[in-house]
Amino acid sequence: MLPPGVRVCCMARRNRICVCLLAVLTVSTVLYGHYYITSESPGSPKARASWSQQTVDQLSIQSLPGEVERAANDAEERTEKRQTAPNHVPERAKFPPSQEKSGSPCQGSLKSKVKTDPLYGERFSFNVPVLMWDKHFTPVTWNSLRDRKVPYGWHGISYSVLSSTLKLMNDSANSWLFDARPSGNCIRCAVVGNGGILNGSRQGKAIDDHDFVFRLNGAVIQGFEKDVGTKTSFYGFSVNTMKNSLIAYEVYGFTKIPQSEDLRYIFIPSDLRDYLMLKSSILGIPVPEGYDKGDQPSKYFGPQASAKKFKLLHPDFLAYVRSRFLRSEIMKSKFGYLYMPSTGALMLLTALHTCDQVSAYGFITDSYQDFSDHYYERVKKPLLFYANHDMLLEAKLWKSLHQHGIMKLYQR
Ligand SMILES: *[C@@H]1O[C@H](CO)[C@@H](O)[C@H](O)[C@H]1NC(C)=O
Ligand SMILES: *[C@@H]1O[C@H](CO)[C@@H](O)[C@H](O)[C@H]1NC(C)=O
Repeated sequence: MLPPGVRVCCMARRNRICVCLLAVLTVSTVLYGHYYITSESPGSPKARASWSQQTVDQLSIQSLPGEVERAANDAEERTEKRQTAPNHVPERAKFPPSQEKSGSPCQGSLKSKVKTDPLYGERFSFNVPVLMWDKHFTPVTWNSLRDRKVPYGWHGISYSVLSSTLKLMNDSANSWLFDARPSGNCIRCAVVGNGGILNGSRQGKAIDDHDFVFRLNGAVIQGFEKDVGTKTSFYGFSVNTMKNSLIAYEVYGFTKIPQSEDLRYIFIPSDLRDYLMLKSSILGIPVPEGYDKGDQPSKYFGPQASAKKFKLLHPDFLAYVRSRFLRSEIMKSKFGYLYMPSTGALMLLTALHTCDQVSAYGFITDSYQDFSDHYYERVKKPLLFYANHDMLLEAKLWKSLHQHGIMKLYQR
C-alpha cells in the first residue's frame, strides 16, 4: 500500500505512456487494508516526477502476469467444479430462472458474434461469475480468495466482515443483474462513460432508447439531458470513486448519487470499505468502522435501500477481466499492484457479459485529445491519466470490440 496522501497518476503523451508520480507532502504512516489512491480524484500535485517508458519497464515487477493468469484460471476452474457439484451456485447473473428462456431469443446477440470470432471467442468466458451473493461464501471460495490482493481477492479483509456482508446478499435480486426481462427479444444496454466526447453529442435520446442504461461515478445529468439522456438503470462505483466524485464534480452539479425506485447499484469490491458500506447500506445503519466510520449510507442510496437494490461484482470477474481483456504493462511497474481497470471499463465489461447488445457512449476513443476530460467541464481540460488505470489500453480494446462487431462504440 502507498502511504496516505500519495496519488499516482499517469499522463499520456502522443503514443507512449509516461508515468508521473504525484506525491503530496505527507508520506508517513503506511495504510493497510485500503487504497488511498483514487482513480478519479481532483487536487493539484505538490511534487511531480516523470519516468520514461523505459524506466517504467525497468521498475521491479510486483505483479507478475503469471499470477494474474492463475487468478483467472482459478476462477474458471472453480466455476467448473461448482457446475459439476450437486448444489452448485448458478453462474449466469442475468435473469431469474423463471424468465430465462432456454437460449437467447435475440437474433445476432453479441454472444453469438463472440462465439464465431477468432480473437474474442477465446477471450470471453460467459461462465465466469459476474456477481457475488450469499451462496458464494463457501470454504472453497474463501480459501482461494483470502490470499489474493483486493480487488481480485479478499486479502486483508476479515472473515467476519465478509461473512456478515455476504449473508445479507440473500435476495434473489442479488444473483441476477436484471430484475425483469424487457419487452423485446434482445436486452439492449447503453453504458455511459463521462468522457468529453459527449459534450454536444445529442445522443440523449439514443441512450434512453436502450432497455438498460449503466452510468458511473460523476454522472452529471442535469443540463446535459440532450447529450447523455436521463434514464439510469444501474449506477456503478467503488466507495472510493463515488465519494471522490461527489467532491470533485460537485462544482459541475454532481451533488448526489442518482436515486430512483428502479435504479440498482453495482458495487465494485475494490477494498474493505466497499464491503463495510454494502453491509451498512442493507442494514440501514451508519458504517460501524474503518475509513468511512459514521457515514450514513442513506445519504447516498436513499432511505429505502434494501438488499435488492444492490449488486456486487465478483472478485473472480475482476481478475478475469484484467487477465483476458486489460492486462496492462503498468502491472509490471513499481505500483503495478494498484492497477485495475477503470470503473467505466468494469461497467462496460459487465454489460458485455450480461446484455445481448451493448452500445458504449462517453468512452475513450482515438480522438480523445479533441475533447475535454468530462462532458460537463466548462473549460476544456485534457484527459487525466492515472497509473492505476491504463486508458490507452482501454481505448484499444473498445475500438477493437467495435471493429469486431461485438459492441457499438460512439465515436466522432
Ligand atoms: C436474508 O437474511 C436476513 C438476515 O440474516 C434474514 O432476516 C432474511 O429472512 C433473509 N432473507 C431471505 C430471503 O432468505
Ligand atoms: C462543449 O461543446 C461546445 C460546443 O458544442 C463548446 O463550445 C464547448 O467549448 C465545449 N466544452 C468543452 C469543455 O469542451
